[in-house]
Amino acid sequence: MTSKRNILVTSALPYANGPIHLGHLVEYIQTDIWARFQRLRGNNCYYVCADDAHGTPIMLRARQDGITPEELIAATKKQHEADFADFLINFDNYYTTHSDENREFASSIYLKLREQGHIQTRTIKQAYDPEAEMFLPDRFIKGTCPKCGAQDQYGDNCEVCSATYDPTELINPVSAVSGAAPVEKDSEQYFFKLSDFSGMLQEWLKQGHVQSEIANKLSEWFEEGLQDWDISRNAPYWGFEIPDAPGKYFYVWMDAPMGYMASFKNLCDQKNKTGTSINFDDYWAADSSNELYHFIGKDIARFHVLFWPAVLDGAGYRKPTAVFCHGFLTVNGQKMSKSRGTFIRARTYLEHLNPEYLRYYYTAKLSSGVDDIDLNLEDFMQRVNSDLVGKVVNIASRCAGFITKKFDNQLSAELPEPQLYNEIVAAGEQIASYYENREYSKAVREIMAQADKANVYIDENKPWVLARTPGREDEVQKICTQGLNMFRLLMTYLKPILPATAKKSETFLNIELDWASINQPLLSHTINKFKPLLTRIEKEQIEAMTHDSIEKTGSTPADSSISGPLAADPVAAEISFDDFARVDLRIARIVKAENVEGADKLLQLTLDIGGGSDDKSTRNVFAGIKSAYSPEDLEGKLTVMVANLAPRKMRFGISEGMVLAAGPGGKDLFILNPDEGAEPGMKVK
Ligand code: 2FM
Ligand code: ZN
Repeated sequence: MTSKRNILVTSALPYANGPIHLGHLVEYIQTDIWARFQRLRGNNCYYVCADDAHGTPIMLRARQDGITPEELIAATKKQHEADFADFLINFDNYYTTHSDENREFASSIYLKLREQGHIQTRTIKQAYDPEAEMFLPDRFIKGTCPKCGAQDQYGDNCEVCSATYDPTELINPVSAVSGAAPVEKDSEQYFFKLSDFSGMLQEWLKQGHVQSEIANKLSEWFEEGLQDWDISRNAPYWGFEIPDAPGKYFYVWMDAPMGYMASFKNLCDQKNKTGTSINFDDYWAADSSNELYHFIGKDIARFHVLFWPAVLDGAGYRKPTAVFCHGFLTVNGQKMSKSRGTFIRARTYLEHLNPEYLRYYYTAKLSSGVDDIDLNLEDFMQRVNSDLVGKVVNIASRCAGFITKKFDNQLSAELPEPQLYNEIVAAGEQIASYYENREYSKAVREIMAQADKANVYIDENKPWVLARTPGREDEVQKICTQGLNMFRLLMTYLKPILPATAKKSETFLNIELDWASINQPLLSHTINKFKPLLTRIEKEQIEAMTHDSIEKTGSTPADSSISGPLAADPVAAEISFDDFARVDLRIARIVKAENVEGADKLLQLTLDIGGGSDDKSTRNVFAGIKSAYSPEDLEGKLTVMVANLAPRKMRFGISEGMVLAAGPGGKDLFILNPDEGAEPGMKVK
């Protein structure tokens, strides 16, 4: 009997200025399954997370929305928590980095680092917006790429040619905050001397705490030499002020990972109040033998495998047992795209589909490596329908009715094929080892191979035929008992992935699905009436979700609050000329333009496309152009619309067409205003 492990796991903290989308969920689902698996195996496992609530984007977003940062982060946290709960992500604590505990950690860790001589001040030149009177983070400077000449690129990398550069190299740079040209200004900043930890990190790296792909990347960073890290930002900034440094704030990435500790500390305090004791130091002291794992995306590896272990080490805490990186999500083989409706928010998904479908599909695709995973929506539907509905649930639905109707819910006293049952029990150890090593796709493949065996057994033994054969009832009871026992094993293995279906199965089987007791089959046991566990995915649900994803995120880049490793939309798949010719573009007159209550980006337009009394000549269209136009600017003007687009139901009403606009977004969004001589209803050629 191995002893109970004490484990703390975390997922990266999502920024508190945008919604959770399916890209984020790869990580939360992966971590949640791992934590649930550990608990199912009898280990002690806490899973904590929090909103990442600081930084310039949050400060500016709140300003733009006319609210305080506190209001923004409180509202976002509520949404994040609801999304996670509905995706069955079972955090022990979900907190915020803007908390007293985190302020305390940020300050005490900083002071320890300073005491040990790991902090240095230096005066550096930085981009400053003279109009907004603030220093500008790289991503708030835009300009022309110095390498390829593409316009409107962000300060540190070009989305067109992928070059990385210093914002000072941009041609014609402008501040994304005010539009003013940034100037260079000196300011004193606080640096963490990462190079002090070079030896420690190289040693740590050799000890297998990171995946091999990341270890290779790390070696490159070591070769380039470890640069000191600027951990301070000048006011105005939204975050924690640095002790003894008025007007200087901790850079968001300094206090964000401390949010892991703060969330756990808060959990300890809550638990200790209710009598369950967890000791913070048992998990974080330098000599802790408990396990600590961070699940993160590969884009933030540098923060977790260089800065974070160094900060922890310098401040006298333990380092992570391991950092597990995963890849990004593509949808239908491409980067998620708002215009194609594949940039899907968690909430939009939930309006159409069961969260367990996605949990299962991601699991079926995930490995322990850092490769990207693809959500192919067609494959998603087929896989869920054939594996979960067609294979697993089917076993229970084929056997349950007989046990209920003919045997008063009683299972037989023995299994007809104990050997087959034992084989599926024996597969459990391999499945467990796949889970443990985050080889989820292999775990799923193995579980489905066992489900196939169970189905073959039922197909061969045909209880539905025997039920009609006088004198063979006993056999039916035994066969169905065998079937339901195999179902019970499969659902136990799937419990970390499908917690809600597992729960329903527990009610149906009248037991708790528990890995430790799988050796013992359920015999002479009373079950409950079977109720459908999972239904098939219908194509229409996926279509409706994609459709709503276009509507809800709009196709303007004004909705740039969505964070995560997403690049510009690539050009969509080629269409034929005939496809194009089916789009009927018409000149329309904007007869009326109104604000839409509750919508930040939409205007409601009444468009006239000519044609007199025809009731199709007046169209109600919602357009995401409020950032660029006030209603009064638009009335009486001409624009171009797609006149033969099927009406779409949006949150605020039916939209009967689409207005064409071009531009980078924000104020620069132009609806065409054709030359004189154009008339409503004219075809655009
Ligand atoms: O990249 C991000 O979305 C960050 N908010 C992740 C922070 S993880 C941790 F270090 F706090
Ligand atoms: Zn470029």
